[in-house]
Amino acid sequence: MDALRVLLVVVISTSEWKSEASVSGCKDFDRDTFNLLEGEAFYFVPYSMNKPNRHDEEFTWYRSSPQFKNISSKETERVHYHGGALFLLDVLPDDAGNYTCQEIRPTGKCFNHHVEIGVFSTSYREDEKLTYGEIEDSDDNKEIACPRVVSNTCETLTGNFTWYKDFSLLPGEHEAEMWVENATKDDEGIYTCICTWRHFHKVYNSSASRRLIVPDKDINSDVDILSPTNKVQFADEGRPIKLNCSVYCGKNVAGRCDARWKINGISVSDIHSDRYNQTTKTVIENPSMNTITTAILTIGKVSAKDFEDEFECIGIGFYSVKRTTLTLKQRESIIPLVIGGVFVLFFCVFAAMLVKCFAIDLALFFRPYLPLSKHNEDNRVYDAYVVYQTQKMDKATEETLSRFVTDTLPSVLENKCGYRLFIHGRDDIPGEDRLELVEDCMKQSRRLMVILTPGSGSGSEIPDQCPTSPQAAVLGGFDWQVGLHHALIQREMSVILIQLGDTGPQGYTNFPPGLQHLILKSAPLKWPESSRGAAAWNSRFWKRVRYLMPATPAKKCAQSAIV
Ligand SMILES: *[C@@H]1O[C@H](CO)[C@@H](O)[C@H](O)[C@H]1NC(C)=O
Ligand SMILES: *[C@@H]1O[C@H](CO)[C@@H](O)[C@H](O)[C@H]1NC(C)=O
Ligand SMILES: *[C@@H]1O[C@H](CO)[C@@H](O)[C@H](O)[C@H]1NC(C)=O
Ligand SMILES: *[C@@H]1O[C@H](CO)[C@@H](O)[C@H](O)[C@H]1NC(C)=O
Ligand SMILES: *[C@@H]1O[C@H](CO)[C@@H](O)[C@H](O)[C@H]1NC(C)=O
Ligand SMILES: *[C@@H]1O[C@H](CO)[C@@H](O)[C@H](O)[C@H]1NC(C)=O
Ligand SMILES: *[C@@H]1O[C@H](CO)[C@@H](O)[C@H](O)[C@H]1NC(C)=O
Repeated sequence: MDALRVLLVVVISTSEWKSEASVSGCKDFDRDTFNLLEGEAFYFVPYSMNKPNRHDEEFTWYRSSPQFKNISSKETERVHYHGGALFLLDVLPDDAGNYTCQEIRPTGKCFNHHVEIGVFSTSYREDEKLTYGEIEDSDDNKEIACPRVVSNTCETLTGNFTWYKDFSLLPGEHEAEMWVENATKDDEGIYTCICTWRHFHKVYNSSASRRLIVPDKDINSDVDILSPTNKVQFADEGRPIKLNCSVYCGKNVAGRCDARWKINGISVSDIHSDRYNQTTKTVIENPSMNTITTAILTIGKVSAKDFEDEFECIGIGFYSVKRTTLTLKQRESIIPLVIGGVFVLFFCVFAAMLVKCFAIDLALFFRPYLPLSKHNEDNRVYDAYVVYQTQKMDKATEETLSRFVTDTLPSVLENKCGYRLFIHGRDDIPGEDRLELVEDCMKQSRRLMVILTPGSGSGSEIPDQCPTSPQAAVLGGFDWQVGLHHALIQREMSVILIQLGDTGPQGYTNFPPGLQHLILKSAPLKWPESSRGAAAWNSRFWKRVRYLMPATPAKKCAQSAIV
């Protein structure tokens, strides 16, 4: 027993001696660094260590900084080591520091294993310092492996894995690695594996996180030239112009999408001229990831030569190249256009004025050619029935009236224009029944021509309001009445109002209401007796009368029916 003890002491002292003797000759391994969360547990075997499960005597753990501290190998200690493995249970902020394990092999070889430990509170758990590298590959299915320090812990200490994504539990994941299938942007985040392990009947957690990044998919499409869309672009000589060559290459393919201009087959970048300036820019639109490269060719001052050059927009994608040509064209000056427009406007106004002035002449001119005028609207005998006042007029008016009715009117309308008129006093056949005659002739007339004289409506002479007036007035009144009746009530004939002389101060107010109504509908034509040429059949007055008369004179053949 004693011998054994002595032997042991000898062994220990030899090893101590050895360790002291060889400290200077120890081989230092690179330092590993770990950042831990407060409250968790840390189990670590230096990666540089071959066989950690040897006697504790072969290892010495200590903390070199911030203060030197021996580390016990008693397993009940919160911080201890066992073999080559370091245990930090319920990590405290004070545990941060540099730790070293001196390993002295039985062969006498000495190694120093270094580890630096940082301690963070849980509020730092998303911090980059606490994640073990990013997973960023282009595979559809991503494997997320629990970082080695934690998976080693679980393997060695037979712990259980649980997985979290962004710190919420992923149920059913209990392996050292997990898979994210068909990863999308939604799968991005921090994946944490927690190893839950037992040590002397107590449960401890060790966790490690990694960030998953799902890169955007890149899709190379056939190149599509978005601009220019036309073969010709207008330009002004002497002014600057920008030509836009815009090319679509696909999704997320920056670096594989190029656009450029060529002039007469030579790349603009090879033309050393101050006249051209090309800028190129690639844009990836969000969120579509559409990649569009635009080359803008600026010509500082367009010259005549540019109108002959051929500009070519070239789009270069991963799979294809497309090109489209463009030529410049002198922009048409706007001045001739404006002049033309003004001219057309003037012409239209002029034409409108002409039409307005000569509307009646035009109507009369085209009348024979219009289809409506080809046939007579009816078989009536007379074109117009002429009524006028025969009583209570001053001498001058009476003369004017009689001249107009017996001379001017028939000479123009009948002799020159071929109309047939029924004129009171001229066409009455003596002895015939007046009332019947008036009624019949009225029915056989297509227009009622009313000659208004200054006295037509005045005083008690209003024919249809004067039952006690002498015979002529009664007859005249009957003509009026029948005429107005036909015109107003039966609407069989339209009325032509002709006025001789002035109406006087009272205007038309003295006329019977029916006549006033007609006057309101169409103003009477004034007979300009005193003006020169008024009597000529093509004077303005007669044109207006003819315009109101039927288009074609009544048929002569029907005449016998009444006479
Ligand atoms: C650490 O241990 C060594 C030998 O075991 C001893 O010499 C040293 O004094 C100890 N240091 C402290 C700070 O306890
Ligand atoms: C660990 O050692 C390094 C280098 O010697 C030093 O920069 C660092 O501050 C130390 N860490 C701690 C926590 O003392
Ligand atoms: C992943 O995508 C493949 C093919 O698109 C499909 O067959 C498979 O079911 C998908 N897997 C999951 C987990 O959605
Ligand atoms: C691990 O899981 C097994 C089975 O579910 C259980 O028996 C064991 O106690 C768990 N270990 C720890 C450390 O929680
Ligand atoms: C340890 O991890 C388990 C499983 O993830 C969890 O249920 C438990 O709350 C954790 N314990 C501590 C002290 O964080
Ligand atoms: C160039 O053309 C593209 C496609 O028509 C358009 O989206 C872009 O705004 C244009 N760029 C310039 C500077 O005109
Ligand atoms: C070309 O255009 C860019 C941007 O418009 C400008 O910064 C640059 O100075 C121009 N280069 C020349 C040579 O004119």
